[in-house]
Amino acid sequence: MRVEILKFDNLGRGIGYINNKIIFVPKSVAGDILDITIEKEHANYLEGKIKEIIVPSKKRIEVKCPYYAFCGGCDLLHVSLSESLEYKLDKINECLNKNKIDYKVSEIVKCPKQYNYRNKVSLKIIDKKIGYYESNSHKLIEINNCLLLDDAINELINDLNELEINNGKITIRINYKKEFLIVIESDDKLQNINNLINNLINKYSIVGIVLNNKVIFGDDYFIDKINNYLFKISYNSFFQVNPYICSHLFDLISEYTIDSKKILDFYCGVGTLSLVASKDSNKVLGVEIVENAILDAKINASLNNINNVEFICNDTKKVIDKITNEYDTIILDPPRSGIDKNVIDKIISENIKKIIYVSCNESTLIRDLKILLDKYKIVNFKLLDMFVNTEHVESLCVLNLNKD
Ligand SMILES: C[S@@+](CC[C@H](N)C(=O)[O-])C[C@H]1O[C@@H](n2cnc3c(N)ncnc32)[C@H](O)[C@@H]1O
Repeated sequence: MRVEILKFDNLGRGIGYINNKIIFVPKSVAGDILDITIEKEHANYLEGKIKEIIVPSKKRIEVKCPYYAFCGGCDLLHVSLSESLEYKLDKINECLNKNKIDYKVSEIVKCPKQYNYRNKVSLKIIDKKIGYYESNSHKLIEINNCLLLDDAINELINDLNELEINNGKITIRINYKKEFLIVIESDDKLQNINNLINNLINKYSIVGIVLNNKVIFGDDYFIDKINNYLFKISYNSFFQVNPYICSHLFDLISEYTIDSKKILDFYCGVGTLSLVASKDSNKVLGVEIVENAILDAKINASLNNINNVEFICNDTKKVIDKITNEYDTIILDPPRSGIDKNVIDKIISENIKKIIYVSCNESTLIRDLKILLDKYKIVNFKLLDMFVNTEHVESLCVLNLNKD
């Protein structure tokens, strides 16, 4: 079936029409004329898959990844970097516009590396094959080299079959010293695992291996360094996946908190933004739900000789009493689900002067902004290309209490 692609949708898929019904086709771009198969038929829309590119769009570039047609990892490898940056700006602005938010975002911070920027990967293992799932499926695509990953992670992936795991999941992290932290989850009886990991340890600088939450080699954490900050990161703590963009994020947080004296950092992870923001302030309080992350955050304060920060482990919605107008600034860097409504209501009721909202999901960001904009105005909004070659983007939005 033929279709002409007209533009991207908000998930980076191409949009076309078949008999007046909208169709979404992943990995296509405006100007493509395609032969497609219909994968799913819904009442109001269709989902298609490229069978053949009849006339390629002028916007297409050569795809450097052999798995791209099937893999669920990237969405925009078939267009130039400048096209993908423009797409990300357009999608945020369209979203703001649709929600009647009168602000135009004009800047996206580019990542210095177009490929090989990721410091973390989670791979599935099915029947001894290691790889990613196909988009929207549980079908495994065996991979031995992913364009998004740090080169050293790719090298290690090629030796993972030595572990002889039949089924499970393996997560690999790499730090600034090119040391690895490996987490394995598997129900297999891995009796020989200690001998098997010896080969890997001889070849790579492995700091720790954790199997089903138990350390089987070295430590359950490693140290990473971004700008001049050192961070202890436990195997199950969140850490930004793109250290190059994270460095820019730190610079911007530092700039936006230069006049802040008392700061709350909700969803603080291992304390990254708290420590950066502490430089010019008197006091920072970080809140995070993962216990190991908070233990890391406390150690990170000492590692960096910072003593004006405090961290508590709790669910943000259970500590809304901590949000008082004693604090002039709140940093919010929630998971994709966004901010709890009662946290937003408390921020508004306490008239916190400045909000710095970091988000990896524009839908929940805009949902939350619509509530906040009753009392706040956007004074700065930038995008950061944290997830290069995918449709995802990091937003950094600064809001000031509206005194009018
Ligand atoms: C996007 S990460 C940001 C972490 C940190 N700001 C950073 O840049 O590394 C979101 C963090 O929120 C934490 N989190 C998720 N739900 C939470 C909740 N209800 N209360 C507190 N923290 C939560 C997660 O564990 C994760 O560490």
